[in-house]
Amino acid sequence: MTQDNSSQDKAAGPNGGGDLFNTAAGWVLFAGVVGLGLAQLSKHYFEADKPQRPEQLGYVIEGVVEADAGPAEMSMAEALNTMPAAELIAAGEKAFAKCQSCHTVDQGGANGIGPNLYATMGKAVAGHAGFAYSAEMQAHGGTWDWDNMNAWLKNPKAYIPGTKMSFAGLSKIEDRAAIAMYLNSKGSNLPVPTFVADAAAGAQDAAAEGDTAATPVDGPSQSVTDVPETPTR
Ligand code: HEC
Repeated sequence: MTQDNSSQDKAAGPNGGGDLFNTAAGWVLFAGVVGLGLAQLSKHYFEADKPQRPEQLGYVIEGVVEADAGPAEMSMAEALNTMPAAELIAAGEKAFAKCQSCHTVDQGGANGIGPNLYATMGKAVAGHAGFAYSAEMQAHGGTWDWDNMNAWLKNPKAYIPGTKMSFAGLSKIEDRAAIAMYLNSKGSNLPVPTFVADAAAGAQDAAAEGDTAATPVDGPSQSVTDVPETPTR
């Protein structure tokens, strides 16, 4: 009963506008809520393609070279001469553990996922009979000398794009030199490049001296005449 009365009162009385106002306010509020929701949604939509990448990746991919890797790494020739050959070969044999899941290296060893690597140093790229190389590797050409092997082991996919060797690469020149040396001891016998540290340092000194000699000597004396006169008032 009381409910009926009140609703009638409102509908008929001068307060009828209050209801209208409430309804309107309700819609405004509703619109606001919907609007907020849409704004939030669209924000997600428009920002979805922006990479939200942390500055530092959580993991490091072996063989990926960082933009500023600090001091320049030594040359292959230097790396091949950092220790006696026998020690380097032993280090290479250890490092070759990373390759063993796909490669054998002894004479007559079976091909695995990758070809047998006996006598590979000095041999033609993709030159092991009986292995189905990728077309990209077959088309590459060249022979496996120290520098080619260095570049290949650093980043196989960069050296021969499309290669089917799924190996990220060895980021350390020391490891690459050791493995190349180990491979060279297995059925190959390429001469190891010589590296004379003093000669390299001497060349750098000479370049530095050249720089100083190039600076003009008569700079200061000239500028004396160029001093502007003090203005008189
Ligand atoms: C996941 C398997 C896999 C691993 C690990 C791997 N390789 Fe390979 N490797 C291959 C395959 C497959 C090929 C042939 C690539 C092609 O045909 O494109 C190959 C080719 C090569 C070749 C060229 C041989 C030739 O006859 O021209 C060399 C050299 C080589 N690998 C050395 C290494 C060394 C050294 C390591 C370890 C540091 C290594 N690979 C690790 C699969 C592998």
